[in-house]
Amino acid sequence: MFFPTFRARRIRSKEVFRRMVRETSLSVDDLIYPMFSAFGKGIRKEISSMPGIYQQSIENIVEEAQELYELGVPAVILFGIPEKKDAVGSDAYSETGIIQETIRALKKQVPGLAVITDVCMCEYTDHGHCGIIKDGDVDNDSTLELLAKEALSHALAGADMVAPSDMMDGRVAAIREILDENGFNNIPVMSYAVKYASGYYGPFREAAESTPQFGDRRSYQMDPANRLEAVREAQMDVEEGADIIMVKPGLPYLDIVREMRNEFNLPVAVYNVSGEYSMIKAAGKMGWIDEDRVIMETMLSFKRAGADLILTYHAKEVAKLLHKGYEISRASRCGCP
Ligand code: PBG
Ligand code: ZN
Repeated sequence: MFFPTFRARRIRSKEVFRRMVRETSLSVDDLIYPMFSAFGKGIRKEISSMPGIYQQSIENIVEEAQELYELGVPAVILFGIPEKKDAVGSDAYSETGIIQETIRALKKQVPGLAVITDVCMCEYTDHGHCGIIKDGDVDNDSTLELLAKEALSHALAGADMVAPSDMMDGRVAAIREILDENGFNNIPVMSYAVKYASGYYGPFREAAESTPQFGDRRSYQMDPANRLEAVREAQMDVEEGADIIMVKPGLPYLDIVREMRNEFNLPVAVYNVSGEYSMIKAAGKMGWIDEDRVIMETMLSFKRAGADLILTYHAKEVAKLLHKGYEISRASRCGCP
């Protein structure tokens, strides 16, 4: 393809052409909105590093969930802030735990909205790690039992899908097994298959009050330098019965999203995490970027990389922009025509 016979700009010259040859699209159907459910009543506390995102008590969660449902967002993913934490994260698998109560309220009041639950221990343990501590580190196999119990308690409360985020080996199989034994063979597992030990989780740990009280998560979350290991991790989860595989964080790991898309014939999800959200919000507030435009461009980058689903704190804003007929290509506030 040589100039001047070929001119790349011809097909870009009119919006109608750009629309016709656009390769990637974004829809509200792609979005999953994370929510933080806090024990108590009348709570609506904004996360200081995540403007627009709140810790909320159940009645406020229900109200916001209704709004998401009306915007056409198909699903939320729930994180819990329990009344009490302990060494074994008891609230995580209690029948009357914060998440179990939230699921029941949501399924009763907004039944059309899919409720996905984050299955992990770190929000419920007093030490803030994602499992049981033995000899100063998280013990894999004893944690599996608790994760399985937690997933089952979510299903019993009415969850539509469970999403283990702990990074223990064998958790997908353990969860699949207990769900099947209890008649929940139709509840899908969305596995946080490839989850990196990332600095981008900082604001989330404020939101979920889940900062590890000693050490870090590098003995269970993945090394940011590794790509081949990501394929091995996901392979394990696929063989153990994962229905959807997730990559997390999103923007700094788009190459891994593409790797998953090429390697596996399963839906791929990407988690656009708290730090990614906070950076856009901060730059937007400073007037350094056109915030709406950057949000939409970021969403499109996930789809282009191969993601089918996007877990994002921007879900509400994105849904609203989509309903307004927002088009990336027309969003020029830079002065260009
Ligand atoms: C807990 C969990 C984390 C996130 C989702 N589930 C944080 C962590 O591993 O410390 C991060 C989400 C975000 O940053 O938005 N296992
Ligand atoms: Zn965790």
